[in-house]
Amino acid sequence: MSTFQRLKDLSQYFLNHDIPEDFSEIASKELGIDISARYGPFRLKNPLLVAPGQMTVSVSQIQLIKQSGFAGCVLKSVVGEDEKGSCSMIKLRRKPTKVETVYDDYDTEGEFPIIHWDGGLDTRDLQHYLEFARIAIKLSGPDFPVIASILGHLPSYDEDFIEDEWVYTTKKLYDTGYRVFEIDFCPFLKEHDELMSQKTILRWYRVIPEMLKKSFNDIFVFPKILNLDYGTDFQLKMVESSFQGKADGVIIANRIYKKEFGCAHGGEELRQHNLKQIKMVHQLYPDFEISATGGIYRGNHIIEYLSAGAKNVQVLSFLMGKVKKPFEKKGNRFQQVFYKLMLDVESGYIACLLKQRDKT
Ligand SMILES: Cc1cc2nc3c(=O)[nH]c(=O)nc-3n(C[C@H](O)[C@H](O)[C@H](O)COP(=O)(O)O)c2cc1C
Repeated sequence: MSTFQRLKDLSQYFLNHDIPEDFSEIASKELGIDISARYGPFRLKNPLLVAPGQMTVSVSQIQLIKQSGFAGCVLKSVVGEDEKGSCSMIKLRRKPTKVETVYDDYDTEGEFPIIHWDGGLDTRDLQHYLEFARIAIKLSGPDFPVIASILGHLPSYDEDFIEDEWVYTTKKLYDTGYRVFEIDFCPFLKEHDELMSQKTILRWYRVIPEMLKKSFNDIFVFPKILNLDYGTDFQLKMVESSFQGKADGVIIANRIYKKEFGCAHGGEELRQHNLKQIKMVHQLYPDFEISATGGIYRGNHIIEYLSAGAKNVQVLSFLMGKVKKPFEKKGNRFQQVFYKLMLDVESGYIACLLKQRDKT
């Protein structure tokens, strides 16, 4: 039987059965392909992570993500505090007043949802957030990393960093077992004009990884690159600053804040924008690890990001937004999205890989 026929059989079977956690092993045994990937110190069983956001705020979500075959997830970002509970960035700890799914003009069937949402980071204070993070890390292991994401004090250029906020928050998460930290440079920072000077931003990207790596010698730090409108050179400079600050890699890149919507945008525009940046960054810094995010709805989107130089991909809107055309697969949304991205015979990652392999 041909490998493609075996994939068809597997796809057919998993349409009506739950995808198991060890699906990647099945793919390797049955199809002879290695779909493993990397994030920092972790060998991922496949390249697909759930990005930080509203799908990683509760333990039950993390359980479902794990059970559905994803390689790992990044928790919703927490706003840091110092030991006394002071929180300079509290404005970003807010509930949304608007959450809606929009679609690009070409998407007449509503298959590629984009979230428009005006919230910020996690709404819990650090103590309550830690109660969640402590249970979430228990679900973590070498075959399913759970990654932290934080944001602390972001000073203007002539102000000192409140280091305590960064270090205390990291320490609290470190003490519960977290070793990989994303830094969320949230798109809503663009609402704070006083912070948005180019030299201020570049200082953040350099100093924060430096500060955290100095305080904890066995952690991995990945700043998330902002998508700003200062041009391509500036996008590259944010990466360069992270590199100089001894970050372990970067996430490229957060959604594009649009004043006219009062929120950040994603979809095709974000994916094309991020792909271009990843290619350039990979060429300039071939050993600097890139995690790709933005507008992933099909297996070929994963292939494009990995071929451009990313080591893994992170998805959110496809899990969260309203998809008008019903999914073929039965099960919860995590299962449906994992199936569509990985196992779909037309457009799944594995089908795309097999087609690519047959061509060579
Ligand atoms: C509702 C929502 C909440 C988000 N919250 C966070 C967050 O807390 N931290 C963060 O780093 N990124 C956050 N993001 C960005 C996502 O992690 C992701 O990188 C981005 O949405 C691009 O992927 P997508 O096109 O699959 O949504 C959020 C995005 C959305 C739509």
